[in-house]
Amino acid sequence: MQLLSVPFLRRYGKPVVFALLLVPAAILVHNWWLAFEGLPNDLGFNPQEASNRFTGDWTLRMLLLALAITPLSKLLNSPKPILFRRMVGLYAFFYACLHIASYLWLDKYFAWGEVWADILKRIYITVGMAAFVLLIPLAVTSTRGWVRRLGSKNWQRLHKAVYAIGVLAVIHFIMMRKGFQVEPLIYAAILAALLISRVPEWVRKARRRNRKAAAA
Ligand code: HEM
Repeated sequence: MQLLSVPFLRRYGKPVVFALLLVPAAILVHNWWLAFEGLPNDLGFNPQEASNRFTGDWTLRMLLLALAITPLSKLLNSPKPILFRRMVGLYAFFYACLHIASYLWLDKYFAWGEVWADILKRIYITVGMAAFVLLIPLAVTSTRGWVRRLGSKNWQRLHKAVYAIGVLAVIHFIMMRKGFQVEPLIYAAILAALLISRVPEWVRKARRRNRKAAAA
């Protein structure tokens, strides 16, 4: 079908998805503009906390979306969703940068001593920082040039870190909310479903590797 052909999706689908994924950031900027103008906005009485939470939520959503693309592609038996994987992954990094900028600027006013103390003392910040640090090499090596430089196998191995990042991000959320709260558990369940959906493939690959080793 012409509408869903790969060239069509490359040419028109990508800019549309790019614009759609930018909407949350645009909503945030719009709300801050309203707040500065003294107009009613959705940031509430604590705009700093609202920004932290909004950007944290969207980082996690983008991460889960990026993780959902390969299973979706398998489910549809089509490589087309993969066209959008790099973009979604980079958006996860973009929202993570906004999240950290919001924390460093609005929460801590760039008081680096306090930031360091937070990282050492508040475990959920330590865990969030670990997730962010792991995300950096994935964003840097997301280009075709890096796939070539590292070799496809090594590149894929490195990018498996996205599963660990997902787990750390969910732990960060659960710890940050404290006590029993449903919302972080919903994200944890989605992540678990995405991880479980990959298990049969991992088992198949491990068996193939073992067979090859035995034959050798
Ligand atoms: C990939 C990395 C990260 C992800 C996916 C992530 C995600 C989240 C999520 C989902 C929340 C909860 C939002 C809500 O309550 O609705 C949150 C809260 C928070 N995160 Fe992160 N985070 C990440 C990294 C970090 C880092 C590196 C820091 C700080 C150095 C950080 C600091 C915070 C803080 C301070 C809050 C609490 C917000 C508040 O109540 O004011 N996060 N994060």
